[in-house]
Amino acid sequence: MSELTNEIQRRRTFAIISHPDAGKTTLTEKLLLFGGAIHVAGAVKSNKIKKTATSDWMEIEKQRGISVATSVMGFDYQDYKINILDTPGHQDFAEDTYRTLTAVDSVIIVVDIAKGVETQTRKLMEVCRMRKTPVMIFVNKMDRDGKEPFDLLDELEHELRIHVRPLSWPIEMGTKFKGVYNIYEEKLDLYTPSKQTITQSIEFKDVNNPELEKHIGSDLADKLRADLELIEGVYSDTAEKSPLGDLGVQYLKGDLAPVFFGSALNNFGVKELLDCFVQIAPSPRPVLAEERWIVPEEDPFSGFIFKIHANMDPNHRSCIAFLKICSGKFERNTNYKHVRFDKMMKFSQATAFMAQKKETVDEAYAGDIIGIPDTGNFKIGDTLTAGENLHFKGLPSFSPEMFKYIENADPMKSKQLNKGIDQLMDEGVAQLFVNQYNGRKIIGTVGQLQFEVIQYRLLHEYGAQCRWEALSLYKACWMESDSAEALENFKKRKYQYIALDKEGRDVFLADSSYVLQMAQQDFPEIRFHFSSEF
Ligand code: G4P
Repeated sequence: MSELTNEIQRRRTFAIISHPDAGKTTLTEKLLLFGGAIHVAGAVKSNKIKKTATSDWMEIEKQRGISVATSVMGFDYQDYKINILDTPGHQDFAEDTYRTLTAVDSVIIVVDIAKGVETQTRKLMEVCRMRKTPVMIFVNKMDRDGKEPFDLLDELEHELRIHVRPLSWPIEMGTKFKGVYNIYEEKLDLYTPSKQTITQSIEFKDVNNPELEKHIGSDLADKLRADLELIEGVYSDTAEKSPLGDLGVQYLKGDLAPVFFGSALNNFGVKELLDCFVQIAPSPRPVLAEERWIVPEEDPFSGFIFKIHANMDPNHRSCIAFLKICSGKFERNTNYKHVRFDKMMKFSQATAFMAQKKETVDEAYAGDIIGIPDTGNFKIGDTLTAGENLHFKGLPSFSPEMFKYIENADPMKSKQLNKGIDQLMDEGVAQLFVNQYNGRKIIGTVGQLQFEVIQYRLLHEYGAQCRWEALSLYKACWMESDSAEALENFKKRKYQYIALDKEGRDVFLADSSYVLQMAQQDFPEIRFHFSSEF
């Protein structure tokens, strides 16, 4: 195997996602501890946006500034190079998370045993499903009382619309929690509530061995055997057990999610999750560009920008553009083509984050993420290549949740305002729609906080003042139809509610779910989508 192929195949680039509070930060931190990337608990935690600050976005941005360092965390584990992409915990930055998901090859979803599937988890899973991203589920907080595990599996299947296959199985929960039977490794993992120790594992190939009683007592041993039998019966038709065989294939297709149970806070089940993850999670996957499929192992370098992190200090108008390498190898001070500019550029200051230290990158491989200091050259979706004209697809926009008209509050500064709006939208701060009927600009966001961020940044970075005007809309819908005539008719009928998005695509602004339903009924030839990628 060539060095390039070897380097690429040992990479595992993924994101951990969850509804706030399920334990994403805690799990991330524990994974970093196992990887030796950090040495004290609390290092990641301190970067987390504090809950008390939810109404003070300046404070949040300050803290987000700190979290640039943890945007990507790379470390070596066994023979693997792991890249964990951090996603913002705050719901108002969900759009950031959606985009981050375009740069990962797989995902770990954290679910709280007591809360089950929550709104944010559902939405994020939707994005994974669209992209067929392989998903693994970690059911957290087993040291607390929660839902009955079989009920939870049902809930995961129905709510997340994916087959599941438990690879570990809990023995009691809450104060009675004894541990899990590790189906994947055929071990009994016993639980001691402690943040310091790691799981005590006992080889246990055959759960019918009477030794089991010695460890967990006869009642629980009987129950565990019955549970495992049930699991075999119910879940084995969707997947074969060991060797991974069928399970691995279905997981990689995004059809089946392996499930682990544990307690991140108590370090329980985390190493087991990681060990299985590195073995079965995909190495960088081929990416579809508009022109052709890009295979990671091909020699010429290529990559795309999926995130731009602005510096909030108005005196330093610099950003970091995050690039996912899709193929080949990136080398420092080498000429690469900025496809949109049709211009060769060299990068001497690209950085990567290894073991929490920011380092200048001399070389990086497909699967890696690098940060490029930027003074306005990049926008989201931009491509860098060794020379070929490639355009990567699939940086979807999703319908915003909130909409407002943006108005100029200082007539002398309309140029600055327009420039500011354009640049902030390129950075992916929010979405812009232009109403085709009255020409007014509409900003769409996921949460109120984003409006405040935009207003502040327009003033401080562009010297422009804006005013918001209320607008009550339900969703922005991208439209598709095989009949050009049907589309034209619809646009004529709804002329007051048709807008163009930033890419010039037609969008229907539905002001209520009822209106949308009626439109779907009256125009059956038109398909309405809540995302720009369909
Ligand atoms: P998030 O990033 O998904 O938002 O969740 P985070 O890791 O911050 O965890 C949310 C809360 O849940 C934290 O408590 C954390 O300590 C707790 N937690 C995480 N894993 C477990 C677990 O396995 N068992 C139990 N019992 N709790 C867990 P907090 O009180 O909000 O924060 P802190 O004061 O502990 O930092």
